[in-house]
Amino acid sequence: MDAFVIHGARRLKGTATVSGSKNASLPIMAAALLSSDGELILHDVPHLSDISNMGRLLVELGCEVSHEAGPGSAGGAMRIRVVDEMNSHARYDVVRTMRASVCVLGPLLAKRGHAKVSMPGGCAIGERPIDLHLRGLEALGADVRLDSGDISVKAKKLRGARVFLGGPFGSTVLGTINVMSAATLAEGTTIIEQAACEPEVVDCADVLNAMGAHIRGAGSPRVTVEGVKELHGAEHRIIADRIEAGTLILTAAITNGDVRIENCPIDALTALLAALNDIGVSVEPENGSVNPMRATVSVSSSRRLEPTTVTTQPHPGFPTDLQAQLMALLCLADGNSIITEKIFPERFLHVAELSRMGAHLYRQGPTVVISGIKKLIGAPVMASDLRASAGLVMAGLAAKGVTTVNRVYHLDRGYEKLELKLQKLGAEIERVAGQ
Ligand code: EPU
Repeated sequence: MDAFVIHGARRLKGTATVSGSKNASLPIMAAALLSSDGELILHDVPHLSDISNMGRLLVELGCEVSHEAGPGSAGGAMRIRVVDEMNSHARYDVVRTMRASVCVLGPLLAKRGHAKVSMPGGCAIGERPIDLHLRGLEALGADVRLDSGDISVKAKKLRGARVFLGGPFGSTVLGTINVMSAATLAEGTTIIEQAACEPEVVDCADVLNAMGAHIRGAGSPRVTVEGVKELHGAEHRIIADRIEAGTLILTAAITNGDVRIENCPIDALTALLAALNDIGVSVEPENGSVNPMRATVSVSSSRRLEPTTVTTQPHPGFPTDLQAQLMALLCLADGNSIITEKIFPERFLHVAELSRMGAHLYRQGPTVVISGIKKLIGAPVMASDLRASAGLVMAGLAAKGVTTVNRVYHLDRGYEKLELKLQKLGAEIERVAGQ
């Protein structure tokens, strides 16, 4: 297992480019299973271990998948074509390495009439049930059973229905995408209420529409799908990764850097920008940035960071996937900040590790009080979640001394060439082979 060794306390300067979105790419790749004819060609799919795992799963499910190496940090084109519909079983071996495998459930059910997907277990960020996905598919007429740890879904014909997808923590991103994907081939109209409004849902709906589906309202809490007989290949450029963009912005801020970020989806980051405004970090789009989902921005901050209060919420609220990184920044604010996690109330693996670096953090349930300190001190740390690891890398870049972040395979799941992008900004960060 590789580790990152970071010599911190250096101001980052220069330009970084945001890659294509991991969380948009994964369900869109799964949507290729719905096609009766032609190739799905996707541009800007990032080169990440989660993406190659999804590619392997699609191969097991009868697809041909290729992924070109891209120029610079842009992921090259991915091509997916269905050649054989015999196997509809996503095995435990694959699902356990990547929860997003659950996205094949809706497409397989709609196209092949049945699917078996190993029930995903809990993961490092807490319990992650899929009851809402199943409730939605049942409403479309699927018979759902649990069979030796596999979820088995079957339907001769799916029929459009009105489906409510709200749960105790709000909407569900992959659940909305699963039900929306399945509904594209159902007979009649499906209306999804309390649909997730995340940009990844919109990107997936755009791809499905390019494949011949009729979806309206994606990005709002009500999504309407008129079923069609079949879908075909299409070509699409994946949206920029809002979480990588947010992580780079917060990294610039924590190192008191002066950084330009290209391909930055500011339109999808309003809650982060509002929090940064309170903290005293400026994120200015450059003149001529006409597309707010692919802007170029300059990040700079005052030396004194103000404390703030943030609660994670479904989009357009503050994203849970930036909570750990924001916490790292607030460790250095001048006063007490409060973060409350409303999506995954156990997602605090970084708290104990940041404390090892001198942070003053007090957790009670889903809330952490962060008492700002003057300096973080480098230390060996370990995290078992992708975004927690990103928060620790940020802390290491700001800290005095040397920080070793162990188990960087978590970062390789979700950040394309992170250490290279940071080195280009002047960070002293090196990948070393773990013991
Ligand atoms: N939930 C239920 N029942 C369900 C589904 C979800 O109760 O059937 C709950 C979850 O336990 C959670 C909340 O609803 O409390 C929201 O979960 P959601 O279903 O939206 O999460 P997801 O779709 O499984 C995606 C991202 C996550 C991101 C969440 C929330 C992908 C591949 N994953 O997961 O990303 O944190 O949405 O925005 O898109 C990451 O990239 O690091 C990551 C974990």
